[in-house]
This record gives sequence, structure tokens and C-alpha cells, in this order.
Amino acid sequence: MEQNFSTAELAGKLNAKPEVGLILGSGLGDLANRLAQPVTVPYCQVPGMPLSTAPGHAGQFVAGYLAGKYVLCMQGRLHAYEGYSMGEIAYPIRLMKLLGINRLVITNACGAVNREFAPGDICIITDHINFLGGNPLTGPNLAAFGPRFCDMSQAYTPALREAALAAGERLGVPLRQGVYLGYAGPSYETPAEIRAFRVLGADLVGMSTVPEVIAAHHCGMEVLALGLVTNMAAGVTQEKLSEAEVIRTAAQKAQVLQALVTEILANG
Ligand code: HPA
Repeated sequence: MEQNFSTAELAGKLNAKPEVGLILGSGLGDLANRLAQPVTVPYCQVPGMPLSTAPGHAGQFVAGYLAGKYVLCMQGRLHAYEGYSMGEIAYPIRLMKLLGINRLVITNACGAVNREFAPGDICIITDHINFLGGNPLTGPNLAAFGPRFCDMSQAYTPALREAALAAGERLGVPLRQGVYLGYAGPSYETPAEIRAFRVLGADLVGMSTVPEVIAAHHCGMEVLALGLVTNMAAGVTQEKLSEAEVIRTAAQKAQVLQALVTEILANG
């Protein structure tokens, strides 16, 4: 898809130059409601921006101040299962880069593959396994953003992971660390897939994050990704998986995650 990276429309509506991008996962969009001096821009008002169709995803940018930093939130993200190409999912990340954002904080709701994790746990994502069947960098390389072959050795910025750990300690919020496996969905995984993913080294599974991280790392952004475990992955318990459970658990823990993100931004 030919992409026209026009930032004028969005930039013209903001009160300041955003420093940090925030992508809010399923059931976690409420963080955008905590911003001071909020400005809301629906995706449909941003040229080139795909619309967010997933349940629990509002589909708008909200900009404002959080912990003294001007942040641009995506209240609602784009997923491959909505039919978007990886390039389309990368579009808002690249818009953020062009707006001057060099730090991206991503949240997601995910299932625990690691049996030691439990619903409600918050996990600093240390690395990922791409099982989405695509890559946002496929196609002609956009050299203005980054190189053809993008090194992924440290896509999840070590200093931000340290900052998140320190913030968790200050707040008394225990944090897990683990590997996220991106699965295309929209069906949840089978128990056999989850057993296979565990052997491969996954701790978490979810349907987002991976394309965003690849696009952000390609264009040189620092990335922090926090997974909120909303359920044990398929077959780990006898429980069936449901969207309602994901949204419910995310909502229960949303305030803790919000406090954590705020503490991280306040200190770095
Ligand atoms: N699998 C995939 N995506 C998810 C899950 C899961 O178990 N939980 C929340 N998002």
C-alpha cells in the first residue's frame, strides 16, 4: 500500500510536540482519560490512518500531559486479525516518529503460556517471537525510517526495562519478565499450539505488539512493552477463553498498570 505520511493534520491539533507514544491495549484505554489538557483526534480525521474495529478499542488519538510529559496515546490499536496489513499497523508508529516521538510505551492484554504466571500479573516484555506470518518491513524499504535489514537484538530497550523494574519496586508492584509470542488470531490458540509455544520459549501470547515493536525499532525509537496477563493460555487450565474475561481482568488491573506507566514516565 502506498502510504502518505502526512502529519500536518494531527500535529495541527496538538498543544505541544509529543515526547512519548503510548499504545493502549484491550481494556486498558482508560489511561488516556487521565491525561491533563486532553485533545482527542479520531483516527478517521487523520489522513492515511486505518480505523480501529476491535472491541474495547476506541479508535482515537488522545494527546495530553502525563507525569509532566506530553504524550500521544493510541486509544485503540490495530490488529492483523482486523484485516490490516503489517504496513498499515506500522502506519501510526511512523506518524509518531515523524511527529518527533522517540519513545514508545506499549501495553497489551495477553495470555500466560508460562505456568508460573497468573492472571493479573504485569510482565515486562523482554523479547518476542513473531508468529503473525508477516513483517511490517516487507516491501520496499522506507530508508527515511531505517535500514533494510533491521537488527532486533535489543528491540525492547534495556534501559526502559530497568526503569520499569525500578518503578515497580518503588510502587510495590511485582513485575514479571518474559518473551511474548505474537499470534495472528482472531481464534485463540489451541492447547497444542500453547504447548508448542512453551517449548519455543514463549511466556506470553497475544495478538498485537510484535508489528508495532518492529516498526518502532526500525525507525530508532526506544520501546517498552508491558503485558497484562488476563488469562492462562489455552489448555493451561480447564477454563475456556473469552473476550469478556480478557476485558474484565484488564479492567481490574488497569489502575495498577496506569500507575506503573505514570511512575515510569515521571522518572525518565
Ligand atoms: N491469546 C491470545 N491473545 C490474548 C490472550 C490469549 O490467551 N489473552 C488476551 N489476549
